[in-house]
Amino acid sequence: MKTHTLLMPLDMHLHLRDGVMLENIAPLTAYSFSGAIVMPNLVPPVTTLEEVKSYKERIMAAVPNDYFEPYMTLFYKNYDKAFLESVADEITAIKLYPDGATTNSDGGVSSFNIEEMRETLEAMSELNIPLCVHGETAGFVMDREAEFMSIYEMLAKNFPDLKIIMEHITTKAAVDMLEKYDNLYATITVHHLLLTLDDVVGGMMMPHHFCKPIAKRPEDLEALLRVALEAHPKVMFGSDSAPHPKDKKESCGCAAGVFTAPIALQLLCEIFEQNDKLENLQEFVSDNAQRIYGICPEFKEVILEKRPFEVPQTYSNVVPLYAGKEINWAIQSVE
Ligand code: DOR
Ligand code: ZN
Repeated sequence: MKTHTLLMPLDMHLHLRDGVMLENIAPLTAYSFSGAIVMPNLVPPVTTLEEVKSYKERIMAAVPNDYFEPYMTLFYKNYDKAFLESVADEITAIKLYPDGATTNSDGGVSSFNIEEMRETLEAMSELNIPLCVHGETAGFVMDREAEFMSIYEMLAKNFPDLKIIMEHITTKAAVDMLEKYDNLYATITVHHLLLTLDDVVGGMMMPHHFCKPIAKRPEDLEALLRVALEAHPKVMFGSDSAPHPKDKKESCGCAAGVFTAPIALQLLCEIFEQNDKLENLQEFVSDNAQRIYGICPEFKEVILEKRPFEVPQTYSNVVPLYAGKEINWAIQSVE
């Protein structure tokens, strides 16, 4: 049987939620990943040292049997330098949401005024805290990410020592932007390597394919595949796995988010194998992230095997991507 081994897989963009949802879904990621950058968009968002610490404790309590490192983040505000010095050891990054751009992003940034942001972004540069960005404007839905490119440029130019991660990129425009500034990096989800807008609304409307940023055009998908498959050194895997209860997805007013955590590595094996690039997957799911973030996860070895695997209809009350469908790779063992 054909197998493929991955060492210390990392998910550089993950939503773990809180409460019962956290308890149900955190073990699914902890099983096969060594660590994950945990998004701070709880209600209310994570903005204090106490909240970071107690959220981390709740995550660790939810995964008692697995070695798993939650890399914690704060929700971006214009924090002062003294505060950032006091939290620097407890966080791995700060996540910036434009106000109202997506799920639980109220209170995010409403104007990108460089002078108002300068103290925070300079302190982050000095303390080597990366800035993770949800890069969408409030414009027409298909143009939101491309319109945000001028904001990435402004940030990259004004803060050359700040590591800026363009999260869950979905467009050729974002892929092109990567090359323009040394301090820009990106995460790519697995669903954006599989779906275009056609898969969301081209036939029947598919709530479990609906997320922000929305999947784009075939040529955008091609551009994302190109940099992912070559494991471009500035690109990392970040699932943006975003669980919502089934009734919040299959409803009038569908919540944004695609849930992929338990099948992400299997789908990545399938995509990379189909394109004859399995040898690059290790860099995409771990090595690039270790280098970019300067992190050293503890050893974990995941062996995947090529065999049909039927994706469960639900994981507790959350419907995964490709529920009930057969995919071609499965996890054989984790050590
Ligand atoms: O689709 C999304 N869901 N995009 C995001 O940026 C947030 C996420 C969520 O938290 O549900
Ligand atoms: Zn996200």
